[in-house]
Amino acid sequence: MANSPTGDTMAERIVRVLDTFGADRTIQTAAQIGRRSGLPSSTAHRIVDELVRAGLLERDEEHRVRLGMRLWELALRGSSALRLRQAALPWMTMVQARVREHTQLAVLELDEALFVERLSHPEAGANITRIAGRLPLHASSSGLVLLAYGPEELRRRVLGGPLVAVSAETITDGGELARVLDDIRRVGYVVAPGSIESVSTGIAVPIRDARGAVIAALSMVLPRDAPTAGPLDELRRASTGISAALSADRP
Ligand code: PHB
Repeated sequence: MANSPTGDTMAERIVRVLDTFGADRTIQTAAQIGRRSGLPSSTAHRIVDELVRAGLLERDEEHRVRLGMRLWELALRGSSALRLRQAALPWMTMVQARVREHTQLAVLELDEALFVERLSHPEAGANITRIAGRLPLHASSSGLVLLAYGPEELRRRVLGGPLVAVSAETITDGGELARVLDDIRRVGYVVAPGSIESVSTGIAVPIRDARGAVIAALSMVLPRDAPTAGPLDELRRASTGISAALSADRP
């Protein structure tokens, strides 16, 4: 693809424009996109116009820009996240009905836990997780499970630090983190009180595909001092059910 004077390809410039959108920044002006993408303003404006014409971005009445439904449609079509979510949803709904807190599903993506689904009871406690949002691997229950079963190379890199403290109780010591990850692989779950916010306890289990490889983490966010044994049983049962559903509809 044609390179710009700065050496990046057209695809890279489009990605830089799309990457300026975040979980906390869903609507922007074209000028803001230009600044945040680091592209020359005229280039950013032109790419925004073209993406709006293609339906990948949308403009509101005030001429501000957001990610378009067409982008959502294309991204979901045939994606592995959609298949996983479809297999998981009936089980997540059952866990949710019984425990009445937050139930969520995450995959490993670019060194972070990326959340593809979250169900919450209206009266459930605090939870900073968002669908299509990310949490650090070492500072969330889902992340710890994904890291425990993830590639050796990733584990070595993360254990090498720096391990940034998100809360006062985040594990920031590589040796301690290595022990926690060993424990997770031994017992098949994690209970992580206060690792991302002091008022909550995250609990998580792995989800395996038909070949037994861990492809996701199923977690709950509970109030800090809530009992964890019952919810963990629910998560384990759901994880087995989701794996069976994934194996059954193997293409
Ligand atoms: C966790 O997975 O450990 C977790 C996630 C979100 C929260 C609290 C805990 O708000």
